Amino acid sequence: MDARELILGRHSVRDFLPDPIPKDIINEILEAGRLAPSTQNRQPWRYLVFLENAKIRKLALNCGLIGLSNFFIRKAPCLIIACADLKDNVKINGQDYYLVDTAISFHQMLLFARNYGIESCWLAAFSEKKLKHYLKLPANWKIVALAPLGYPAEKKGLYSRAVSEFAKSKDRKSLEEIVRYL
Ligand SMILES: Cc1cc2nc3c(=O)[nH]c(=O)nc-3n(C[C@H](O)[C@H](O)[C@H](O)COP(=O)(O)O)c2cc1C
Repeated sequence: MDARELILGRHSVRDFLPDPIPKDIINEILEAGRLAPSTQNRQPWRYLVFLENAKIRKLALNCGLIGLSNFFIRKAPCLIIACADLKDNVKINGQDYYLVDTAISFHQMLLFARNYGIESCWLAAFSEKKLKHYLKLPANWKIVALAPLGYPAEKKGLYSRAVSEFAKSKDRKSLEEIVRYL
């Protein structure tokens, strides 16, 4: 897949086949995140990878998911939680950069996964407090986001169709609205 299709053809996928993702592909996806740029090259990201559906189902019940629609994660064959270790956070002029760094790295992984026909969806609708407690994460770690990954199912489920419609997922602001030439 060329870079154009990789980026322009991406959309959130919430319905997955149960087929597992081979471990060597998972490692390549993680490598795409490992090589990302970061503030002062501090690489604050840390990744927790779930490859067993039973564990993902359990996690879905223990991460304080907001809204029934987000339970779609329970069907995924893989789930990655993107965290940041605040000891590698850089603060510049009062601004923390761990979120930017980790988001770049994570999105790099999710885009790269498309090379293998693997799709995903960012997820922010969880309780950091509950998930941190459930996973017994160190106090200085932040959970930035999670994403289920898998091979897309042919048909979209009821919830994913509703979410796409609710979020108007196909809509984008025009260039005129988001760009200013100075
Ligand atoms: C940081 C972030 C958090 C998101 N959280 C959720 C979420 O909790 N649940 C969900 O179904 N989609 C979530 N999304 C997906 C967005 O709804 C989606 O990206 C947006 O509607 C555009 O649609 P598209 O990704 O299909 O282009 C999230 C996306 C981002 C970038």
